[in-house]
Amino acid sequence: MIYLDNAATSWPKPPEVIRAMANLLENAGGNPGRSGHRLSVAAGRVLYDTREALAELFGADDPLRVVLSPNVTYALNIALTGLLRPGDRVVTTGIEHNSVMRPLRSLQAAGVLLDVVPCAPDGHVDMERMAEALRAPASVVVANHASNVVGTIAPVGEIALLAHRAGALFIVDAAQTGGVLPIDVQALGIDLLAFTGHKGLLGPTGTGGLVIAPHLAPERFRPVFTGGTGSRSEEELPPEVFPDRLEAGTPNSVGIAGLGAAVRFLQATGVETIRRHERGLLERLLNGLREIPGVRMYGPTDVSQRTATVSVRIEGMSESEIGWRLDEEYGILCRVGLHCAPAAHRTLGTFPHGTVRLSAGVFTTYEEIDQAVAALRDLAQSRHRD
Ligand SMILES: Cc1ncc(COP(=O)(O)O)c(C=O)c1O
Repeated sequence: MIYLDNAATSWPKPPEVIRAMANLLENAGGNPGRSGHRLSVAAGRVLYDTREALAELFGADDPLRVVLSPNVTYALNIALTGLLRPGDRVVTTGIEHNSVMRPLRSLQAAGVLLDVVPCAPDGHVDMERMAEALRAPASVVVANHASNVVGTIAPVGEIALLAHRAGALFIVDAAQTGGVLPIDVQALGIDLLAFTGHKGLLGPTGTGGLVIAPHLAPERFRPVFTGGTGSRSEEELPPEVFPDRLEAGTPNSVGIAGLGAAVRFLQATGVETIRRHERGLLERLLNGLREIPGVRMYGPTDVSQRTATVSVRIEGMSESEIGWRLDEEYGILCRVGLHCAPAAHRTLGTFPHGTVRLSAGVFTTYEEIDQAVAALRDLAQSRHRD
């Protein structure tokens, strides 16, 4: 089996992740922050350690400003719905995932003003149009750090400058870049970094979160979910402290233990090292695919401008047939269709059929990439045989 679906969720996970999850259940299985006994305290310590690891990874100073959530979708909803009010203006791009677009469309229906800045067909944000959109005041700018369809990396540092000049907060959807590209929230000027634990961060599903800049007071957020937090139990209103204000209910301690171990693995390996490996794989994949007649590739040609996520089509063959045959005949697992990002596919000109997406990860080998290229060559040639 060759796993090339790391943009959906990474697999396999480092063994440390699995061990940390089992260890949590065996040795720290209390409810964190609720009771005062040793198992509860041990679980609370695991949560704090994970926040600390994430804060270090993303260049944030305060681990308590790392809010944990079930995934990046929740984190984006917590940020967007928590901050935006009717009459506020939000600016986004034409290459976003539905976990940005759907909350924004709901907020738009509730009176938030929405501007979508177009992107070039290779997924690059049109920065002139972005600058133009941000000549007028705005409350929030939200953009992904890299596209989940073609891997195009956005110039988040430049967008941050434009956003701040317009008086806006800058929210980044780092679903595709956490653990894949180095990220320093302070150096890049990111006010809110939304991440998911189960992709490049190499943690289990059911984990993610939001890193919140020091200048944002908890009261600015209207919590999407309210309930027990284990703190200020005398109050019937949500606590006005991070992370409790945005973390109601018992957390996924098992998953968070795994995420903490995953982040420590990333730190020991080095995100720069991982990026170099994935960039090499990407180059090999693009060079191989380029040679196959009938295969069309999408996204930037320059590997420095994209992650190791590649979208292709084979002329005259449906995406679902390609995906099915890759799995059945070659043991290659990938994802076909719209990848929860119809706006991105409209930008790329691949709506409504979508593409075949191959996404490499830290554990992908060059040999596996060569086998994927050979399989796609076979499939493209089979059009003339069948
Ligand atoms: C760019 C982007 N944003 C958001 C998401 C949503 O991730 P999750 O399902 O983990 O919330 C994904 C992954 O599918 C993604 O690639």
